[in-house]
Amino acid sequence: MKHLLKLGDLTREDILSILNLADQLKFERNNGINKEYLKGKQLGMIFQKASTRTRVSFEVGISELGGHPLFLSSHDLQIGRGEPVQDTARVLSRYLDGIMIRTFAQQEVEDLAKYGTIPVINGLTDYCHPCQVLADLMTIREYKGTFKGLKLAFIGDGNNMANSLIVGAVKTGMNIAVACPEGYEPDEKLVKWGKESGLLTVTHDVSEAMAGADVLYTDVWASMGQEGEKAERERVFSGFQINEKNIKGAKEDVMVMHCLPAHRGEEITEGVFEAHAKEIFDEAENRLHAQKAVMVKLMR
Ligand code: CP
Ligand code: NVA
Repeated sequence: MKHLLKLGDLTREDILSILNLADQLKFERNNGINKEYLKGKQLGMIFQKASTRTRVSFEVGISELGGHPLFLSSHDLQIGRGEPVQDTARVLSRYLDGIMIRTFAQQEVEDLAKYGTIPVINGLTDYCHPCQVLADLMTIREYKGTFKGLKLAFIGDGNNMANSLIVGAVKTGMNIAVACPEGYEPDEKLVKWGKESGLLTVTHDVSEAMAGADVLYTDVWASMGQEGEKAERERVFSGFQINEKNIKGAKEDVMVMHCLPAHRGEEITEGVFEAHAKEIFDEAENRLHAQKAVMVKLMR
């Protein structure tokens, strides 16, 4: 494992080994043990989109590991003025030990890895959000003890989160049902691959997806970069909400997850969100532990 560009590049064993290390790092942190696995290492963090969790958890994470974060906003970098990613990659490789990048096109992340000589970590693209799903898997295992036999239902847009959840679920052996409006399905190739595994179903019926689910997951109706489609999406997605009524179709001990930021009253009601705040904020915390594990694996 040289980079984390998308979950599809990782084997099941890679994923489980990251999750095991994440559990260990969480235990060490909670018990005041700090081994500074990445002492003196420099992590550059390129952001072409906004972020709260990803930015703060990577900054705190690399600092706790004994390394140093550099926050690189695309507004300030020459990349924002058109310097090619091939050149940026080769320059940054001379200074840094790793790069985390949040951007629009998946190709940009792939190119950074191709032309650079240091590990690249995908901190979200329009296509996927692997760091989030590693934290999600860690949280599911904490709450449920296993992946085997579980059913995860994703309600909403077939977006970056849906794409990564499909890969994460299939690789760990969970069943996954995606309920989305027609025309808003996840990536076609991933849907084909997921269906071939026998673990994925895609439906336009929310109650069908939620029936008997152990884990419910949702995300915003309009992702970053889709602000112009907000009104249209509010109309199309109005039935694609987790609420007090339809949650009754899931298992009684269902856990509810959200990558955040959440829009109460849209993809999830205030009541359901607050009733499941414990798991949602444990999930947010686990970003820190899961990403520390990724950095140790890639940069040590
Ligand atoms: N979930 C997530 O990636 O949050 P941010 O956009 O705040 O980083
Ligand atoms: N789908 C959302 C996820 C945010 C973490 C977006 O891309 O904006």
